[in-house]
Amino acid sequence: MERKKKVFAPVEELFRTSFGEKVKERIFQNLDTQEISEVMLRETDSFTNLMVYYKCALMEIETKFRVLNEEFSLEHDRNPIESIKTRLKSVDSIVEKMHRRNIPFSTEAIEENLFDIAGIRIVCSFREDIYFLADCLLKQDDVTLIEKKDYITNPKSNGYRSLHLIVETPIFLKNNKKMMKVEVQLRTIAMDFWASLEHKLKYKKDVDYESLTQELYECAEESAILDMKMDSIRKKIERLQKNEEL
Ligand code: GTP
Ligand code: MG
Repeated sequence: MERKKKVFAPVEELFRTSFGEKVKERIFQNLDTQEISEVMLRETDSFTNLMVYYKCALMEIETKFRVLNEEFSLEHDRNPIESIKTRLKSVDSIVEKMHRRNIPFSTEAIEENLFDIAGIRIVCSFREDIYFLADCLLKQDDVTLIEKKDYITNPKSNGYRSLHLIVETPIFLKNNKKMMKVEVQLRTIAMDFWASLEHKLKYKKDVDYESLTQELYECAEESAILDMKMDSIRKKIERLQKNEEL
């Protein structure tokens, strides 16, 4: 009896606190109490471990970008990166996505099917810095490109722009090395401004999103023109600086 209590308490705690009602329904819809306990017992530890591994992978990739930023600033006297944000997908979003794709909940299936559990967003001042940083990252011999979506060259129909990469990189643990996937999003400040606004509007209950799509699309196009102009000014300044040095 004592042993059972010890094993089940943390599982029940996680079940009670980490999962919302909808999520519980989705994972456990057809299971009886005994089966639910078994799933939780089987998956809790491995799921927690997996999330820690993703956190470590984010630390690795973030450091790579910070190193590139420092090196670049030595040569060019400016930083290509304005800001870096990392996030782990929430348990609710993981379960929702697995459910949407009709994949039964297991830690193994999560790792095999979801490539955006670990996400890092790099915001740059200039469009060209995006491609420069992406190239530098992908040249590193412990980074493998799994998937690339260039929504800058090919914007989405709503106007969304960003460069998305899914990369795989190792994390080094006590006894082994584990390959982890990370989603990298690179955007300019203007693209980020647009995407945050669009995201907010999409999920605001009292806003009729459909009625704003044309205006949003025009904003995206105008900010893309602004990005091009800023890039061209930057190039002019760099040329002038070079001439001064000669
Ligand atoms: P998901 O199932 O949502 O991950 O779609 P996907 O696997 O086709 O990924 P995609 O690369 O198209 O987009 C992944 C992420 O990019 C999203 O989770 C958002 O953070 C961002 N994103 C993509 N499209 C849009 C958009 O139209 N607006 C905004 N604001 N963000 C977007
Ligand atoms: Mg995705």
